[in-house]
Amino acid sequence: QPLIHQATVLNHIEVKKDIFRIQLVAPELARRSRPGQFLQVRVSATYDPLLPRPISLHHIDPHEGTVTLLYHRVGRGTALLAQCKAGEKIEIWGPLGRGWSLPGDKNVPAQSVVPIYVAGGIGIAPLLPLAEAWSSVGNPGILLCGGRCEEQLVAVDDFRTRGVFVDLATEDGSCGHYGRVTDLFDTLPLQGRQPILYTCGPMGMLKAIHELATDKGWLCQVSLEERMGCGLGACLSCVCKTKAEQEGKVWTHSKICTDGPVFWSKEVIW
Ligand code: FES
Repeated sequence: QPLIHQATVLNHIEVKKDIFRIQLVAPELARRSRPGQFLQVRVSATYDPLLPRPISLHHIDPHEGTVTLLYHRVGRGTALLAQCKAGEKIEIWGPLGRGWSLPGDKNVPAQSVVPIYVAGGIGIAPLLPLAEAWSSVGNPGILLCGGRCEEQLVAVDDFRTRGVFVDLATEDGSCGHYGRVTDLFDTLPLQGRQPILYTCGPMGMLKAIHELATDKGWLCQVSLEERMGCGLGACLSCVCKTKAEQEGKVWTHSKICTDGPVFWSKEVIW
């Protein structure tokens, strides 16, 4: 059951132009959150804007009792959030949604596969707690991160410090490989291991990664980002077409906020 929390801002910085990292003190939220889940964040007590903003969990620290979010300032809700200072309180609903399959979960052996995180821009945010989970079982994996330019690549050092091998691509050639993130698959250091792909970013990139995984016979999970209203499964603003099978039934539509945001890519109708 999601809970409403009054979280206190511990620190809040602009890490690159219009990309912010905010750390919040919220002990119960930190204890209950899992990699790949998200929060609904409401800054204004006046309900303007009316709807809270969905933001992925970027780091979860149950011992410190904090959670960290990485977000892009794109509209009025996130512009208001960007003004919050240390010590202020903000309203959080969560944790929400179904997160990534972790090492040791069904179909996900901890050692005989290599986890590959494929990030497009700010889509890197929900992949860090996943990399932390893999790193904790001694199999940190590979990050392939792409964006239009160097300014869009954030948080990659947080993966490196957890032992993840990092490869970068930019469309303007300002950092790493000159081209798309999908080009980086040509030089993957797999060492004979079977990959499992985890990806978050623009829809075009997710579809390309899904097609590549299907072609190679690799497992692939995607985190879908969609305009959300309630975040609780009530308003149907986030429905996508799927062919997900659960308990013997095939679901032709799924709610990204409660059935996702993470899906096996073969369950999504692209
Ligand atoms: Fe309301 Fe998903 S956001 S049902």
